[in-house]
Amino acid sequence: MKLPFYLEGYFMGLADPLAQSDIRLIVVQSDGGNRYTLKLAKPLRRLPWQQLAIGQPLRIEGQQSLQGVGSPPKLKAERVLFDPAGLPALTIAPKPSQHRPPVLEVCTKGTCRRRGALELCDRLKAETQTCAVEVRASGCLGRCKQGINVRRSSDNQILSQLSPQEATELLAPWRTATAAIAAVS
Ligand code: FES
Repeated sequence: MKLPFYLEGYFMGLADPLAQSDIRLIVVQSDGGNRYTLKLAKPLRRLPWQQLAIGQPLRIEGQQSLQGVGSPPKLKAERVLFDPAGLPALTIAPKPSQHRPPVLEVCTKGTCRRRGALELCDRLKAETQTCAVEVRASGCLGRCKQGINVRRSSDNQILSQLSPQEATELLAPWRTATAAIAAVS
């Protein structure tokens, strides 16, 4: 599952100090002292990272891949902004579609409705006010016997046999992401 992130911190060098070109990994430290290794999108690998001073303030935007509860997300940098007082801004614009919030489509028809899909939808909408997820009511997802069904846009999976009480659990991956990013900002 992929979600957008942004990180403000300080450049701490290359993850592989022997790399001469095609730099793939850099290390960034947040104000709080946490260190993160970020993979660079291809266009960013050609930048002169070796010449960048240790401690240079950076703002990085990109995509994070969630690895499951308890594991830190993998961070891929797609856009880097250097501090205005330092080097000029170097930016790689991400594709607009990559930064759409993930969508949960809740089937609210037939069997799913009888099993509480409307309540699940309402609970999700109430809880998503604190995380960047869009919740939509949808038509039949074709797995009526396994309702309640929810399609997740981030990996296009249909989650089945859900109940309204599982709304909080369903949003857990996004909360993990939000907490991880909050820790670095
Ligand atoms: S009624 Fe929900 S999947 Fe068909």
